[in-house]
Amino acid sequence: MCGIIGYVGHNLCIPKIIHGLENLEYRGYDSAGIAYVLNNKTKIIKEKGKISNLKKLLDFDTTTNLGIAHTRWATHGEANKINAHPHSLGKFTIVHNGIIENYSKLKQELENNGYVFKSETDTEVACALLDEIYKQEKDILKALNKVTKIFRGSYAFGIICSDDPNAIYALRCTSPLIVANSPDGNFIASDVPAILKYTNKYILLDDFDIAKLTKDNIIIYDEFLHETKKKVNTFSGTFESAAKNGYEHFMLKEIHEQDKVFKDTINFYFDGTIESLKKNFSFLKKYNKIDIVACGSAYHTGLVGKSLIENYVNIPVNVEVASEYRYKRCFYDYNTLVILVSQSGETADTLAALRKAKNDGITTMAIVNVVGSSIAREADHVIYIKAGCEIAVATTKAYLAQLAIFSLLTIYLGYQNKTISENELNIILDDLKKMPKLINDTIKNYNSYFNIADKIYKNKQIFFIGRGIDYALSMEGSLKLKEISYINSVAYQAGELKHGTISLITKNTPVIAIATDTKLIEKTISNIKETKARGAYVIYVSNEEPSEKFYDELIKIHKVHPILQSILTIVPLQLLAYKVAKNNGCDIDQPRNLAKSVTVE
Ligand code: M6R
Repeated sequence: MCGIIGYVGHNLCIPKIIHGLENLEYRGYDSAGIAYVLNNKTKIIKEKGKISNLKKLLDFDTTTNLGIAHTRWATHGEANKINAHPHSLGKFTIVHNGIIENYSKLKQELENNGYVFKSETDTEVACALLDEIYKQEKDILKALNKVTKIFRGSYAFGIICSDDPNAIYALRCTSPLIVANSPDGNFIASDVPAILKYTNKYILLDDFDIAKLTKDNIIIYDEFLHETKKKVNTFSGTFESAAKNGYEHFMLKEIHEQDKVFKDTINFYFDGTIESLKKNFSFLKKYNKIDIVACGSAYHTGLVGKSLIENYVNIPVNVEVASEYRYKRCFYDYNTLVILVSQSGETADTLAALRKAKNDGITTMAIVNVVGSSIAREADHVIYIKAGCEIAVATTKAYLAQLAIFSLLTIYLGYQNKTISENELNIILDDLKKMPKLINDTIKNYNSYFNIADKIYKNKQIFFIGRGIDYALSMEGSLKLKEISYINSVAYQAGELKHGTISLITKNTPVIAIATDTKLIEKTISNIKETKARGAYVIYVSNEEPSEKFYDELIKIHKVHPILQSILTIVPLQLLAYKVAKNNGCDIDQPRNLAKSVTVE
């Protein structure tokens, strides 16, 4: 979603800020803008569309050493130049991530007090309110502190006040914001990649902290306006990890990293002994009911997790979309564990679900990629996946790493509960060792999936079907396809198709049928035949050699223990979606309307 960067220092700010902004492009946006201070005056330049449009309007040699900039993902008001950030009213210029929920009421009051608004945004309202309060308080810090008592919602602000043109102020509530010191100046940013070229050390602001940055100093005040010291974090990834390394798209690069990501994630928690799993996961033993809560692909991971845990650990698992869970009545019992799954660790609905569970006194555990993110910090227990920086909006390697964690949890809990025998454990562990090579082999087979993609990419709709765990994978395969190719795609439980949806199957409608669960394969094949009889073009994805030809295309994947199977099965679906989108000329890494990290409700 929206991105923020600001710099004040000894060098020209525009080149640094634009470079940082470009490193935030992956978050998804539809306009970009910058405000900088020149001769004590704040100048704003903004434009609709890509940062390249904004760059055309900028003079990179402008002798300014203080500026803030933004990529906007439209929430309040359409994606146009007027609504683009920064916004300015009175003495305040602001870039803003998040949503101020009570902005409409505030706007009316401010209009009554004489403020006139140009845009439809909540951010312009924030400028006006700050300005109004500042007129009373005559102190920037006090005014900033006071607005936190008035705004409802989430915000990360980068702020310039014309009465203090040598400083950038930063303030946050829920939406993440970091400050960082580099050898030649200081930064604010919404995300580490924005500043990684200049420093890998950063401070994560807490809710209601206010930071004041000048060229030689960063001062942080807590919510009582006392100066406070914060922990300096070190980002362990490299700048190169945010580069394409010769791949045409980040998505393709990230798909190719999956064998390593799997290995890194597993090795972090498991050294080949059950003892290592015990050390990392023994806190899980006492729970006998699990709620998994997440959004999008992370929710689909949860569905796979449910299938594994219920089948191999014998514990009931409820999986919910976070935006529903946060408002529904939950029936916890004493030993319920709530597991939140999130790549970014910043997804607003998942964070709210976490807070709800905590408020209700329920233990929470987060499976997260981004170290130090809000969900990781607030959960009672955190299990980090080791996916590294994921740039493409469509998640691939983080999804696979989340599956790897659910496999490990299942192995550990199943063994502890004696629902997995010693003998079965050995079979699973044998397969586990082979997995990185098998993932790699599956990726290397990409040409065969690409050939299939070449045959179906012109279709207007594509169906996915499967049963049980294969249905959970169908949902992810279908989401991957539609989010990047814009082709309408639905995933159905194979047996449910004939209760309505089969009426949509006509001659040559692609049906991607996934069947890896031995005990369900025959049933799924019957459902496939029903679609074939209506003219479907069937792409059959299985780990078993079919004994008859009821399909048009076969994607044969290696068979491994069911606890690990999904990790292989998803790979061809990712590559299929990628090539369909590529053939359709889509913006694969930044699909329209989407954002990498969904920080609004
Ligand atoms: O960062 P999160 O894992 O919490 O994000 C959740 C979803 O927004 C995300 O998985 C989304 O569905 C992806 N674009 C799917 O590829």
